[in-house]
Amino acid sequence: MASLVLTLRETLRYRGAIGQWSWVLHRVTGLGVVLFLFLHVIDTSYAVFAPEDYVKAIASYQSPLFTLGEFGLIACVVYHALNGLRIAIMDFRPDLWKHQQQAAYYVLGGTVLILIPFFAKMGLDAYNHYTHDPFILPITEVLTAQLPFLGYFVVGAIAALVVAFLQNSISDSGEGKVHIGSTGSSIERFWWSFMRISGVLIIPLVFGHLAMMHGLQGGFELTGQNWTVIGTTTGTLGTAIGNGINDSGTSVEFIAERWNFLWGGVAIWKIYDIALLTLVVTHGFNGLRLVLTDYTMGNRLLHRTVTNLCLIAGVALLLVGGLALLGSIDQSAIDLAIEASRAMMGG
Ligand code: HEM
Ligand code: HEM
Repeated sequence: MASLVLTLRETLRYRGAIGQWSWVLHRVTGLGVVLFLFLHVIDTSYAVFAPEDYVKAIASYQSPLFTLGEFGLIACVVYHALNGLRIAIMDFRPDLWKHQQQAAYYVLGGTVLILIPFFAKMGLDAYNHYTHDPFILPITEVLTAQLPFLGYFVVGAIAALVVAFLQNSISDSGEGKVHIGSTGSSIERFWWSFMRISGVLIIPLVFGHLAMMHGLQGGFELTGQNWTVIGTTTGTLGTAIGNGINDSGTSVEFIAERWNFLWGGVAIWKIYDIALLTLVVTHGFNGLRLVLTDYTMGNRLLHRTVTNLCLIAGVALLLVGGLALLGSIDQSAIDLAIEASRAMMGG
């Protein structure tokens, strides 16, 4: 029922088929990127806390299943960014809403134009990789490597439910519906502006990150021999001793080269990743809360559970990702990665 009311409300708001579809696409693409982010931040933190698991995580990324998924991810990021920019501009300039149908078509056209060079580069990288007899992690191992995420989700959901029960027993009974009026509170007005401002700030950060990680370098070059680590002048994967690290070409060394790289004495990629982490996690998990709120308005306990879950997941990711960025990757971590890499490839 709640979703029907919502669909009707949004159809009226956007007055037309393309507006309605762009609302659905914005939602689906945002959720897709949040799901990826959940895996990605935890996986990246393994480089510091469990290097042997990071080696496996990157081997999963370099498997056909994830290669296909990356095409979907890039499409989601590009569409969501352009459409988010359209929403932000129009909400700050309401006089432009009369052009919203036309603008929605521009967003679709712009997405296709941006995806052409991205997909061409990614397709070429994939072709070069798979035609050179690469190591491919068996699909069963790729899937079992994702199981811990299910565990983290279940633990988070149970914690969120327990806290929601406590909240319900402290405040009024759990019977009532959530007051729709509460969405017009000053806190919600803050989040409304935050989603628009943070979205605009994320654009250069996330596209810069993708250009480095995928567009220019190619996700397959997170491991290997003789590749310059993008964004560094001293790091060459698998050949040189960069920043005091004996580089053997594992994915853990790729991150070590980037995070240890100093530009004028400043660890620029750590600072870049701190900004990226803070903005995308806060924007993404608040976005998830907004979506889930739409579908749980009728039940106070459920609404509190999903709100708590978004808060727990967001804070956990900020902590795990932030601690990894503040930590360091030393020679013992790299030795573990090299050992795990050899064991994985059966060497
Ligand atoms: C790349 C630049 C981005 C821009 C310009 C942008 C913009 C926006 C805007 C303006 C909204 C509010 C829409 C509304 O209230 O109607 C929004 C919602 C959302 N964003 Fe983003 N965003 C960006 C990146 C991201 C990223 C990286 C994620 C995931 C980590 C994400 C996830 C979401 C989600 C889940 C929503 C809620 C969607 C809904 O309510 O239907 N966004 N975004
Ligand atoms: C398939 C494309 C992607 C690849 C290959 C990739 C790769 C990487 C790598 C290697 C790092 C390690 C740090 C570094 O070298 O700077 C990293 C960190 C990070 N990436 Fe990505 N990335 C991708 C897409 C994305 C997207 C779309 C987002 C945002 C929605 C994102 C957000 C982050 C964040 C927040 C960090 C820091 C994580 C932490 O502190 O634990 N990445 N990424």
